[in-house]
Amino acid sequence: MKIAILGNGGREHAIAHQISKSPKLNKLYCLPGNAGTKLIAENVELDFYDFEKLGNFVEENKINLVIVGPEKPLVDGVVDFLTNKGIKVFGPNKTSSQLEGSKIFTKKICEKYNIPTAQFGIFNSVKDAHKYLEKAIKPIVVKADGLAAGKGVYICEDTRSAKNAVDEIFNGKFGETNQILIEEFLQGEEMSYFVISDGKTFKKFNTAQDHKRVGEGDTGKNTGGMGAYSPSGLINKELDLKIIEKIVKPTFKAIKDLGVTYKGFLYVGLMIKDNNPYLVEYNVRMGDPECQTILPLLECDLLELINSCCEENLQNQIIEWKNKKSICIVVCSNGYPDTYKKNVEIPNLEKIKIDNNTFVYHAGTQLIDNKIYATGGRVLNFVSISNDLKVSRELVIKEIENLKWKNGFYRKDIGFRIIDK
Ligand code: AMP
Ligand code: GLY
Repeated sequence: MKIAILGNGGREHAIAHQISKSPKLNKLYCLPGNAGTKLIAENVELDFYDFEKLGNFVEENKINLVIVGPEKPLVDGVVDFLTNKGIKVFGPNKTSSQLEGSKIFTKKICEKYNIPTAQFGIFNSVKDAHKYLEKAIKPIVVKADGLAAGKGVYICEDTRSAKNAVDEIFNGKFGETNQILIEEFLQGEEMSYFVISDGKTFKKFNTAQDHKRVGEGDTGKNTGGMGAYSPSGLINKELDLKIIEKIVKPTFKAIKDLGVTYKGFLYVGLMIKDNNPYLVEYNVRMGDPECQTILPLLECDLLELINSCCEENLQNQIIEWKNKKSICIVVCSNGYPDTYKKNVEIPNLEKIKIDNNTFVYHAGTQLIDNKIYATGGRVLNFVSISNDLKVSRELVIKEIENLKWKNGFYRKDIGFRIIDK
């Protein structure tokens, strides 16, 4: 098969790595990819948000299947566009992608289908939102409705900061809007829970826990993710059943009731309290860096699995996992998540030992004249799988130190809730 993967992050490199191992693969394109995907695929500089251009490229190169990594093209309807052209594509359509594209859409589904989530209110004016906030219990959570690259959520300790968040959102910080979501602050521990669906049936696709804050001990600003481990230490049979019955099944029913089906990965962002799950958010794709930590544990052929979803034949697939644990530490450019230098060379990457249990997935990197340059905030993902997360973490840290990269930093405490307790 000829495959194209859309995206340029660590998630897409991890997907490309799995796909490249499939005996079904003839040719792999990454649009646009990064320095890591360049070693296993053909990188193509193409703006895939120009759907016409993308469609033409796929047709001209006789690509059999397109795999969509990030959320934005999904929310913008890339799947509908390609499907209408008769191109096979893995990812949810525009209607289903509202699960990530609109937090209010998801909250309304939670309300209608009785899905456990934080209590919430939807406000159409600054005045009403401010009035509500004066009496609300703090901390309180204020959210922009649409995609905001992880920045549209404000956890507010007092009325003043909550009002300020409302003002910023209504002033158009994340695009023009006339609606805002305010919700109860949930106590508990977070977990990322994944399923894969072909529209007829779905299967569990492992769990992970990521660390979103930039600083050790989960402090400081939110980032795209500083590291993750899999499986989550919180998962157990009873919790699994509750997540499926109370959250996942009613959500797929809601999507079906809208007259569409859901094909692709679904990322269920949960808060767990007293072994009970509450939905925090949906993402309509794999997580990043969860994907980088989960996929190395997969025992079966990812391409076959994804293709079976496109052919609505997931029922007959058996998804097997290595009986191991996985940890991923993200190396970032100094200054991230604020401003950082671009186009800085990363030395010594060729010295990093990679084997069946150790992987380096690139994110914001570029290969120029045989040298690797950091071009993004999150740059490299170091992954190790073993029976012991502590051993894996030590190994990964040793490898990162071998880079001797002065322009980068990383968190040494990924997995601390489970490793260091
Ligand atoms: P989201 O973009 O909705 O995933 O929110 C980003 C992060 O904000 C989540 O991963 C949580 O850490 C936090 N968060 C969002 N909503 C809530 C809530 N209602 N209570 C507590 N934390 C929340
Ligand atoms: N790791 C969080 C996300 O992918 O949205």
